[in-house]
Amino acid sequence: MEKGELEALKKRFIDAGQGHIFRYWDELSPESRQKFIHQLQSIDLDLLQTLVQKFVINPAAKQGRISLLPPKVISIPRTEEQKQRAKQAKLVGEKLLHSGKVAVVLVAGGQGTRLGFDGPKGIFPITPVRKKSLFQFHAEKILALRRRYQVPIPWYIMTSESNDAATRQYFQDHDFFQLPPDDIFFFTQSMLPAVDEKGKLILDAKDHVFTSPNGHGGTLLALVESGALEDMKARGIEEIFYFQVDNVLIKICDPIFIGYHHQAGAEMSSKVVSKRDPEEKLGVIGYQNGKLTVIEYSDLSKEDMYARNPDGSLKYNAGSIAIHMIQVKFVEKELAEGFRLPYHVAHKKIPFLDESGKLIKPTQPNGYKFETFIFDALRDTTTSIIMEVKREEEFSPVKNATGEDSPATAQRDLCNLYGGWLEQIGVVVPRDSNGNVSIPVEISPLFALDVEELSQRITKPITFDTFLYLGP
Ligand code: UTP
Repeated sequence: MEKGELEALKKRFIDAGQGHIFRYWDELSPESRQKFIHQLQSIDLDLLQTLVQKFVINPAAKQGRISLLPPKVISIPRTEEQKQRAKQAKLVGEKLLHSGKVAVVLVAGGQGTRLGFDGPKGIFPITPVRKKSLFQFHAEKILALRRRYQVPIPWYIMTSESNDAATRQYFQDHDFFQLPPDDIFFFTQSMLPAVDEKGKLILDAKDHVFTSPNGHGGTLLALVESGALEDMKARGIEEIFYFQVDNVLIKICDPIFIGYHHQAGAEMSSKVVSKRDPEEKLGVIGYQNGKLTVIEYSDLSKEDMYARNPDGSLKYNAGSIAIHMIQVKFVEKELAEGFRLPYHVAHKKIPFLDESGKLIKPTQPNGYKFETFIFDALRDTTTSIIMEVKREEEFSPVKNATGEDSPATAQRDLCNLYGGWLEQIGVVVPRDSNGNVSIPVEISPLFALDVEELSQRITKPITFDTFLYLGP
């Protein structure tokens, strides 16, 4: 870089009140300086200043009670008529899948801080018997779907700077789990700098400003910027099935969901589960000022949280589980005037260099991270469907190392799912006093993707003792 350009770059940061990041400049080697400059060039200072003003310097008082309305939800089919409608939707979804117009987008750019696993979360070993990783498990489902529908189902995997190389390497080391590498597209989301409690950038190395991924809302921008969306269009893809890496029960490309969404001409649709209890920390879908949106549990007033319908059910009960169908056309529309999802702020523990240049990992939140959420795009839809599903069949995320939403609960839920399928076809499965399947049971997606397929595959009685694995 020319001396003049360098001075101009430094001046921009100094003028923005961020000159402290050059504290160690004189100590840096030419390579470190180059690396640092490269990072600084990627920082959108105008955006940063706007966010600092809005969330740190001059934060708005928390909104009072927001005006909310529950959404219309396609409920789990109970009546004959509802079952017929679901069947109809399934046919539509299957047809679309057969015609090769559906792609899968997996978001795996998060840092998985709560799980505390060293490496991308997708590498975490999760299945109850074979301990397959989340990535392998998802890959096998996609492979099974390709075989079922006899079409390529391109898979777009979003990573971020912190886990991109490790993720790609992992897939390469495992021969892409038998999927054609040409049908797997890795793309990387952008990073955003965090700031301390005074709005100042944070150095986590002498030549590096601390940054974090820009949230799963960054998917939309990254799909466009990486060329993934163009790739989809070139392949004739019309619809995207979107999911998150940590949900072990994900029914990838559920034809019923695809069908309802497509039939309605919806731009972006969501699956929901009914909340376990009023205080469950799950965002709910509702209308806020006439716009469809997800209201985070922390923004829901106690009154709304506990509000009930005449039949006793919770009024705001459509718990968002981050499974969406998104039209390719809608992604283009969303980005037509640039990236416009709103930013959210989170008070977090952020590693920093102390006065002596030593890296400190704080035990208390010391700064702010900014991120965007994909569900905020719901506000911009003209049509959207919301479909309720059974939590025990479709939603069990691995978020924490122990306790709720942990590997242990994910494995319990997988054993219960597969045990339940076996029971439906007449196999006796041991259960404990809580009703949970009491031995490890695992059915590979390559053996059966659902109970219907399982019933066709099992032609003679099966025996097992301490565990059961059914694989190809
Ligand atoms: P979470 O918000 O649960 O974050 O992400 P996380 O990174 O998995 O875990 P914590 O909060 O640090 O403990 C939900 C999904 O969204 C993806 C994650 O990879 C996960 O699949 N995600 C999240 C991204 O792809 N990018 C982001 O910037 C944030």
